[in-house]
Amino acid sequence: MRGLGMKYRIMEQTRPGGLVEQVYREVLAPAFPAEELESEAGVIETLEAGLGSLLVAVDDAGRPAGAAFGRWSEASRVQLLAYLAVKPSTRGHGLGGRLLRDAVEAWRERYDPCMIVAEVESPDAPAVHEAYGDPRRRLAFYENAGARALDLPYFQPGMGGPARRVQGMLLLVLHADPSFTQEGADRLAGGPLRTFMEAYLESAEGARPTDWDAKALFKAIDQEGGIPMGRTETDR
Ligand SMILES: CC(C)(COP(=O)(O)OP(=O)(O)OC[C@H]1O[C@@H](n2cnc3c(N)ncnc32)[C@H](O)[C@@H]1OP(=O)(O)O)[C@@H](O)C(=O)NCCC(=O)NCCS
Repeated sequence: MRGLGMKYRIMEQTRPGGLVEQVYREVLAPAFPAEELESEAGVIETLEAGLGSLLVAVDDAGRPAGAAFGRWSEASRVQLLAYLAVKPSTRGHGLGGRLLRDAVEAWRERYDPCMIVAEVESPDAPAVHEAYGDPRRRLAFYENAGARALDLPYFQPGMGGPARRVQGMLLLVLHADPSFTQEGADRLAGGPLRTFMEAYLESAEGARPTDWDAKALFKAIDQEGGIPMGRTETDR
């Protein structure tokens, strides 16, 4: 099987140029439905602003086989793992797990974040994109890495406007500073997430939303005692 004997080197870049264009076209674009993936220009802009981190796994020949892209929110001190993907021919050999571990470690060290979060499709969502991977196995992948799902009516902000929101998503916590889980191991303080979501929605959709779905999301973020976090139904 390809991938087994292959050695991969993981490199990080925080500036535009380098492997960005190749990674976007060969690794990210084929792995995500269009509505979930921002434009290449958007990725480059984040890097230009000094808020991006792209980890790339390259093979012996220097070709990218997988990548993780993260975006830092200084206002909230929340890091978002925006995209993680491994080329289909290389999946299942541990490279995704390695990229995820390396990314979380690099970002913890650099930013000392309040939390690191990731968006994934819920296995219960009506629209399942089989071509982009099985949501159930993907969630299992994150849970094996220690991720916990937040009990929120989450949706991915619409790129370009609220009409482009992606429903049926889960927000996962990959890492949280212990000071935000003081209420108990199963609750996460909502403060940083509120700031994060406000900024994320405003920058993606062009305006701060006041609709019912956004209100329901913020109400759940602000709930007394923190946001419940747990494992998901894939384990039941
Ligand atoms: C999720 C993904 C990054 C995992 O990378 P990987 O190198 O295959 O992962 P590892 O080898 O470290 O771990 C294997 C686990 O990944 C998951 N996985 C493997 N192939 C998968 C696929 N086609 N779809 C979904 N999850 C998959 C499974 O949980 C698998 O465990 P299992 O074999 O016990 O079922 C990769 O499958 C992928 O790129 N999927 C498409 C893009 C995506 O879904 N990204 C995540 C959303 S940000």
